[in-house]
Amino acid sequence: MSGGVLRVVALAGGQNVLHPHSPAEHRISVLWWVMLIGASIGFALVATLLLSGWLRRNRTSLPFGGGERAATGLIIGLGIATPIVVLSSLFVWSDIFVIRSTAAPSPSSTSMTVDVVGHQWFWEIRYPGTVAVTANELHIPTNTRVDVVGTTADVIHSLWVPELNRKIDLIPGRTNRVLLDADRAGTYPGECAEFCGLQHAHMLLIVIAQPRAQFKTWLRDMEAPAQASTGPGAGLFERACASCHQIRGTPARGQVGPDLTHVASRTTLAAGTIPNDSAHLREWLTDPQHVKPGNKMPQLPLSEAEVAALVSYLEGLK
Ligand code: CUA
Repeated sequence: MSGGVLRVVALAGGQNVLHPHSPAEHRISVLWWVMLIGASIGFALVATLLLSGWLRRNRTSLPFGGGERAATGLIIGLGIATPIVVLSSLFVWSDIFVIRSTAAPSPSSTSMTVDVVGHQWFWEIRYPGTVAVTANELHIPTNTRVDVVGTTADVIHSLWVPELNRKIDLIPGRTNRVLLDADRAGTYPGECAEFCGLQHAHMLLIVIAQPRAQFKTWLRDMEAPAQASTGPGAGLFERACASCHQIRGTPARGQVGPDLTHVASRTTLAAGTIPNDSAHLREWLTDPQHVKPGNKMPQLPLSEAEVAALVSYLEGLK
């Protein structure tokens, strides 16, 4: 395994619901710990009572004395009242407090909106009010309530960034929203969490939370048209790739695959499948179906020289 692939795998491995980095995820992880500890105590209690009943199966009295009245009290107290109180409190807390606080944010309570569209198999990301379009790497400012509006271009996907909030399904004909509010700068790997076809497992979404000033610079760079070179790769791209991919600032306007205006600034290719370096880009252009079987990128009849020209053209798209 190359260093680059290891890096991609390490990114994907950093998804931990118990490492919360947003107010919503803090509530979810506290709920998780309370549920786990409560269920463990309940299980231990029931197991102890069962074991004691089994060990004392030939006796009629309770281990701690008391007659029939004590036994009835035990049944009512431990068998009926305790579960009602415990389960009702958990229901009220989880349903009314935790779930509501992680539910779809109202647009008035958030300071910015990002549109995320699920595709087989990549994420299209748009920043409303700007012309910026990117793929698979969702940049957000830290300590900012970001309203993520999710839709799909094809089948049902599910958007999940475990360290930041719950999942939302991306359903044809519907929009669902989730709040992302990272409490510190960092990289938070996300995932498609709903089986969506052959390459469901290769649909990594990387959330990059940056200090506000840094985010603004990034967004300004993304809004700018491509600084595309005019070498042999440019003409070849227009002939071979432009019907599927867009590069803003050039005649390429395709809407099938990811926007490639600033593709060289991203860390991975094919939604986290391979690192974004020249060797992997060459491999991807030469035989995309080998790298990610089933994906919509056709295998083009390109010579080695043509692949090299495309690699050098695409690597210039910072
Ligand atoms: Cu998209 Cu699973």
